[in-house]
Amino acid sequence: MYDVIIAGGGVIGSSIAFQLAKRKYRVLMIEKDEIGQKASRAAAGMLGAQNEVGPDSPLSRIAHESREMFPSLAEELKCVSGIDIELIQNGIVRVARTEEEGKHLKQENERQQRSGDHAVWLPQNRLQEKEPHLSHHSVTGGLYMPGDGQVNAPALTKALAHAAVEFGAEIMQRTEVLDVLTENRHVIGVKTTSGNILAQKVISAGGVWSRELFEKTGYTLNMYPVKGECFSVYHKKRLTTASIFSPGCYIVPKAHDRFIIGATQKPDVLNKSVSVEGLHSLMERAIRLIPDLQHAEWGEAWSGHRPKTQTGLPYMGEHPEIDGLWVAAGHFRNGVLLAPITGSLMADYIEGKPVYEPFKLQ
Ligand code: FAD
Ligand code: GLY
Repeated sequence: MYDVIIAGGGVIGSSIAFQLAKRKYRVLMIEKDEIGQKASRAAAGMLGAQNEVGPDSPLSRIAHESREMFPSLAEELKCVSGIDIELIQNGIVRVARTEEEGKHLKQENERQQRSGDHAVWLPQNRLQEKEPHLSHHSVTGGLYMPGDGQVNAPALTKALAHAAVEFGAEIMQRTEVLDVLTENRHVIGVKTTSGNILAQKVISAGGVWSRELFEKTGYTLNMYPVKGECFSVYHKKRLTTASIFSPGCYIVPKAHDRFIIGATQKPDVLNKSVSVEGLHSLMERAIRLIPDLQHAEWGEAWSGHRPKTQTGLPYMGEHPEIDGLWVAAGHFRNGVLLAPITGSLMADYIEGKPVYEPFKLQ
């Protein structure tokens, strides 16, 4: 008998397992494949609290809180799991390719300043000084957000799962949660491909697949996959220090001379293939931004499925009709950024703290 079973071992499930195990709950995380091989492996790892989440979004506050958790989390995970999540705090530059985009970004700069964020508009000459490999033909300026860092996303999931085990959590891999077991509308456990397992509470953290599990309880989570394709290359030169972001393409400089270039957005596509058309469009855009990238050495290409909800906000709440059945899914483009706060909030909710209204299941 466990206190909590978590169905799904991506970055979200692993962060919740880590927080609950730290609080001394008996936790079992069940993963149908292997830990962190789905969306959480595909992610570029940007912590875009400013770049990806607008100041007026209901996610803005927790996105900032989560971003601020990373420095101490990185240290703690290194210490407990031995894994370096490669936190790099060099910011993100959202670049403008036209005067019109520049005008829009200057307005965004003012909005961010008003909300108390640190952001700087860099006209072309100043941006060129900061990032000399950016093409002065293609880029007219950029909005620099120094606080938006980045991590190695696969390492983060692995570190959280390892640290959860260090704090006493158990993990079952290659086991699928098939259904939720209930008695008088209370959770009593789960049915899995390895048999029934009892628990007082169950949290579905299955990314885009959470919908399937909840459907078996008669509840429809309004969510769908948005497939993203990415690739990586190696270049000896430090082609950029900040992550470079523009519509349809970003370039994220990683450790060991590696650059991740992403990502396409294909709604409602659940296959894993990587298309030539997708890579071609990313390559064209990336080389237009940083021409030296055409001399880079090929790494690899991959795809993943962002879990998107109709509202754009994640579900983090309890099933309206089944006590003890929870969900934490739908983090769309920001699951890595939001993983630390999601772990901590879900542990609070399990302990009875009120759920933040916008995340509730209706
Ligand atoms: P997943 O990582 O998909 O994990 C869910 C897990 O649950 C899977 O391992 C699955 O096998 C398992 N599972 C499902 N159903 C069951 C079941 N019934 N029983 C057992 N196991 C089950 N976010 C950022 O913050 N920054 C970025 O830069 C960024 N870049 C991205 C780039 C791309 C190309 C993509 C695709 C996503 C990106 N994201 C980024 C988004 C981020 O990757 C996701 O929001 C996040 O990984 C979602 O995590 P998750 O744990 O909910 O889902
Ligand atoms: N946040 C980057 C992406 O989802 O592609």
